[in-house]
Amino acid sequence: MNKLIVTGGTQLRGEISVSGAKNAALPVLIASLLTSEIVRISNVPHLNDITTTLELLGRLGVQFVVDEKMTIEADASELTDLRAPYELVKTMRASILVLGPMLARFGQAEVSMPGGCAIGSRPVNLHIKGLQAMGAEIDIKDGYIKARAKRLHGARIFLDISSVTGTENLMMAATLAQGTTVIENAAREPEVVDLANCLIAMGARIKGAGTAEITIEGVEKLSGAEHRIIPDRIETGTYLVAAALSGGDVRLRNARPDLAESVIEKLREAGAHVETGPDWVHLDMKGERPRSVNVRTAPYPAFPTDMQAQFVVLNSIAEGTGTVTETVFENRFMHVHELQRMGADIEMQGNTAIIRGVEKLRGAPVMATDLRASACLALAGLVAESDTVIDRIYHIDRGYECLEEKLSQLGARIRRVADYPAPAMRAAAAGD
Ligand code: EPU
Repeated sequence: MNKLIVTGGTQLRGEISVSGAKNAALPVLIASLLTSEIVRISNVPHLNDITTTLELLGRLGVQFVVDEKMTIEADASELTDLRAPYELVKTMRASILVLGPMLARFGQAEVSMPGGCAIGSRPVNLHIKGLQAMGAEIDIKDGYIKARAKRLHGARIFLDISSVTGTENLMMAATLAQGTTVIENAAREPEVVDLANCLIAMGARIKGAGTAEITIEGVEKLSGAEHRIIPDRIETGTYLVAAALSGGDVRLRNARPDLAESVIEKLREAGAHVETGPDWVHLDMKGERPRSVNVRTAPYPAFPTDMQAQFVVLNSIAEGTGTVTETVFENRFMHVHELQRMGADIEMQGNTAIIRGVEKLRGAPVMATDLRASACLALAGLVAESDTVIDRIYHIDRGYECLEEKLSQLGARIRRVADYPAPAMRAAAAGD
């Protein structure tokens, strides 16, 4: 297994480009299931989660043409299977998103029930309840969700929690349902809006995406379309935090700072000088140490849970004491134990981390537990004395395109090494 080795101590400087948003690209690729015509999607990030999505759609019979710039043409004209198997769903929970589109277009679908994961139990009851309200018959048997419907019909659906993928699944299903569907307390995340824009380009009638009430008037069929994925606001935030932590001066291009306002506001509060344009953002820390900030995660447009771990690191080396409260997932603080091993002074009180900033962290062997936790360990390595060796970095490869190349471009000392056997095993292998 590969590891990342980060040698701390450099101030990040320079310019890099932001990739397409993972959490927009996944549902948009899956939306190709809704039509027999070709959907052409550009600015798709090169990530393991994208490969998993292509593998899943490929198993269902979708054909792809992928060019060197990761523009993907998806052709779902002839599906051969309507079943998302456990071995793929367990590696990527977003696979649940095939349920709505397959059911809407083909009248049946079978998707393995995703289990819990490192950040919480993450049930899919809202996806199921919403599809039932649209007339689907759903059985949960042998670990699979088995859904059928002659044709889905419109419904008024209230989501108890404004689930992102829940909103996306139901919005996709509703595009081909008979009649009008209204999703109340819908997720307002920019990735939901990006998916809606792609669906609208495919001929769907959707109003209100980006607000808490989305109205979808079902149509008989959708057509092919071209769509460009929005820039990744979480990747943007992650590199801005990296710059701020290191006292650096970094410019990000191909960005959408308007989608990262809550994060940029907190960085300004931490002492960063941030300037933005329509597609760029520039953060200059002027060599200063950041000040602690208090952060509370909540659905968009509030502070994103996907930036929580990065701000725990920021506070770990900031001046003063800051709190980070997680309200979206129940178990998203696994990185805290690893940061404590690197010398961070963090006390947990329920779902709040109380962080007293220290001048420097110390390098240590650490282990990643989920995508954002792994990114936060890489950030911690940038401001640690000596080397930080991060294990299980496959989590990073799920969601950050070329993380070490981008950080290196900014001057960070970071490298990927293939795992090697422990000394005793090496000696044995060498025959001595
Ligand atoms: N929830 C339910 N029932 C449901 C669905 C959700 O109780 O049927 C709960 C969840 O357990 C959680 C809360 O609702 O406590 C919000 O979860 P949500 O459904 O919004 O999360 P998600 O759609 O599974 C997406 C992103 C996550 C991101 C969250 C929150 C994708 C593919 N994933 O997950 O991204 O953290 O929204 O913004 O869009 C990541 O990129 O690292 C990541 C985990």
